[in-house]
Amino acid sequence: MLSATLMFRLRTALEFYQMSIRTRDIDGWLDDMQGFVLSLMAEQGPGVGAIVEIGSFKGRSTAWLAYGAKSAGREKVTAIDPFTGSPEHQPGQEWADSDLAVLGSTLPVFEENLRMLDLLDHVNPVVSTSADAAKEWNDPIRLLFIDGDHAYEGSKLDFESWTPHVVPGGLVAIHDIGHWDGVTRFYRELMSTTDDYEEVLELFGLVVLEKKVR
Ligand SMILES: C[S@@+](CC[C@H](N)C(=O)[O-])C[C@H]1O[C@@H](n2cnc3c(N)ncnc32)[C@H](O)[C@@H]1O
Repeated sequence: MLSATLMFRLRTALEFYQMSIRTRDIDGWLDDMQGFVLSLMAEQGPGVGAIVEIGSFKGRSTAWLAYGAKSAGREKVTAIDPFTGSPEHQPGQEWADSDLAVLGSTLPVFEENLRMLDLLDHVNPVVSTSADAAKEWNDPIRLLFIDGDHAYEGSKLDFESWTPHVVPGGLVAIHDIGHWDGVTRFYRELMSTTDDYEEVLELFGLVVLEKKVR
């Protein structure tokens, strides 16, 4: 008979594989294993508070977060994005997006992708820039995922606007460290000056910080 530990690990591997296949058709740059890390934090992460995502695009990372949270019966995911893409997604740019060119928004595709996965009911989309949404936000956050504006000023603004709401012991994940100059410069500067956060994971450019308990 298989041990409980082996059964648990086999089930985890199967869950990763199945969810990887289910999210594969959603456009995006998030690696499957990065997505699985997000889902595990949404499912089992510490603290009480909201799950907030900045930068949702067509729902790839949102799906992983919502999958984890929904599996555990925990908080819905607040997904903040103007859904008009970043500068690099605009026509003629390096990552020009065909849905944006036709529809002017990624929101319809975002909603359809989550509906297809039966996860839309576990997501609150907020059609707004992060800075505008932050002006209205007053709730504690236990998991913050930053993947919006990748410029230095934009990523710094996202971090500074939202992390005051992160509960002690809560988690902050940031994407594309080492892949995009602006957010990477901000992150290195942060880690050389902060005493409030500890890096607990780095996975292909996804970093996870834990807010220290004082
Ligand atoms: C790299 S994509 C996000 C990818 C998504 N997290 C995924 O894994 O599929 C960046 C997104 O950030 C959004 N964005 C750009 N500037 C933003 C801002 N100031 N506030 C919120 N979202 C922003 C863009 O509209 C775009 O959808």
